[in-house]
Amino acid sequence: MIQVEHLTKHYGPVAAIQDVSFSVEKGEIVGFLGPNGAGKTTTMRILACFMPASAGTARVAGYDVFSQSLEVRRRTGYLPEHVPLYSEMPVAAYLDFVAEVKGVPRAGRKRRVAEVMERCLIADVGHRLVGRLSKGYRQRVGLAQALVNDPEVLVLDEPTIGLDPKQIIEIRSLIKSLAGQRTVILSTHILPEVSMICSRVIIINQGQIVAVDSPETLTARLSQSERIQVQVDGPPGAVLAELRRLPGVLAVDQKALVNGIGTFLVESARDRDVRRDLSRAVVGRGWGLLELRGIGMTLEDIFIRLVTEEQATTPAGDETPA
Ligand SMILES: Nc1ncnc2c1ncn2[C@@H]1O[C@H](COP(=O)(O)OP(=O)(O)OP(=O)(O)O)[C@@H](O)[C@H]1O
Ligand SMILES: [Mg+2]
Repeated sequence: MIQVEHLTKHYGPVAAIQDVSFSVEKGEIVGFLGPNGAGKTTTMRILACFMPASAGTARVAGYDVFSQSLEVRRRTGYLPEHVPLYSEMPVAAYLDFVAEVKGVPRAGRKRRVAEVMERCLIADVGHRLVGRLSKGYRQRVGLAQALVNDPEVLVLDEPTIGLDPKQIIEIRSLIKSLAGQRTVILSTHILPEVSMICSRVIIINQGQIVAVDSPETLTARLSQSERIQVQVDGPPGAVLAELRRLPGVLAVDQKALVNGIGTFLVESARDRDVRRDLSRAVVGRGWGLLELRGIGMTLEDIFIRLVTEEQATTPAGDETPA
């Protein structure tokens, strides 16, 4: 449904994105993840026909975003990073106007607008002026205008930004409910959001794609070590030294020290279970083993690792264990 090939965009001498390629299948919800300035908005603007690329091609619903932009626009809903809303118009009238511009037939337009207001949780503000709405409500109106023509493809640039926690949950489930029939690409900074609603994630950093995979596979593929959290009642310095001496342990960090009880994060090679040796050592020294549990890598750890590895470029000297 979306095919991006070797896309590059220069702003003057700056390459905002470079040789970006990926594809999104029909019915997929894909998360576009990257730090500030990574090139997410740039890519999405190109997909939504808001500006041309410097090189490469992008096709949406089978049409070229540059040479067949009208066809693409007709089939795409775009929520831009900064939603340009007509502040002097009431919400319902504004959505009706957008629907008209997007070619929604007059006959079904009113019903369509009412439907989309219901779905985007703005039915109660239909008569209010867009310019007087709070940021969160404006964001929801933005989402409603993207959905109003019932598009096949949705390009959503940070759809949950500025919403309160309750609305975030509702908007996420709204987006999730679109899976299957519609194809969605959304950008976000919020990592749990990606695991919650996306079947695949594209990680972009400094204008280049660094990983494309399902959140689960990414987590499994990139966690090269096991992590265990232990809480030990014993002299922290000695405990730290003892844990570091254990065979198979790659690194130990002291996370907290409360009332003389230290919490430590122990990292070991993935294929090596150090829990038995660890508990034996602690108990053998006469200390109290108050907690011992495995903790996985979070998507956040992986994201940071991918992004910082990219920046370091030289794998040698990397502190993370291979
Ligand atoms: N109009 C512009 N003129 C010049 N440089 C730009 C312009 N728009 C974006 N850039 C640059 O292009 C790069 C990518 O920006 P982009 O907005 O695509 O990033 P982003 O991933 O959306 O970031 P954020 O998470 O902050 O929204 C950045 O280095 C940015 O400074
Ligand atoms: Mg952006």
